[in-house]
Amino acid sequence: MTVIAIDGPAASGKSSVSRRIAATLGFAVVNSGALYRAVTREMILRGIDVSHPNDVERELPHLGLVCEAEPGADCKVRTTTSIDGSHLRDEAVNALVSGYAALPAVRRFVNAELHRVGATRPVVMEGRDIGTAVFPETPFKIYIDASPEVRSARRAREGLNDRISERDRLDSSRTADPLRVAAGAFVLDTSDLDLDQVCARVMDHLASLGLPSR
Ligand code: DC
Repeated sequence: MTVIAIDGPAASGKSSVSRRIAATLGFAVVNSGALYRAVTREMILRGIDVSHPNDVERELPHLGLVCEAEPGADCKVRTTTSIDGSHLRDEAVNALVSGYAALPAVRRFVNAELHRVGATRPVVMEGRDIGTAVFPETPFKIYIDASPEVRSARRAREGLNDRISERDRLDSSRTADPLRVAAGAFVLDTSDLDLDQVCARVMDHLASLGLPSR
């Protein structure tokens, strides 16, 4: 199945671009960060601290984590205690998600679900390591970036309290599949571009690789 990997730092605009590209192509869209957020929320609810990786790993099979992706809608991430994916952008989750996402067992667990979804239908999948580690074989790799100032301003406009520079530092410096540009990725700095311009460039790039648009 075709996977379009869209990676980049927090608040770079990946989600908006991914949604638009998926809608244009009739693909489903998968926000892999939502799976890391769901794991984090569950661990918080269950009182399992990130400093006890063995306890975290033991609990993973009991979370009931499922990602449902259909064309034309955001993916739905369910767990045994949440069927609507609410609270995934809570401040507590923002503050802790990079820590849980750095655990190799958590990454293996999330990646297994991402592979399951990616095998069922064509998807646009956004995250930090989709082109480097999850689907490195896909030829369709995009890296979306923006200046730290622009990204902080975007989050502030959304009314979200999210210390993105700290998350970026943790996400880029971890040992397990850190955020980095995949070999062969199309890198786009969106600081001075609007969504239409970004999507047009991404679609041109995909077309140059032979991916037909509808
Ligand atoms: O995309 P997001 O900001 O919602 O992602 C939340 C966190 O999840 C991010 O800080 C790091 C982690 N993440 C990851 O490690 N790998 C991914 N492919 C996606 C997200």
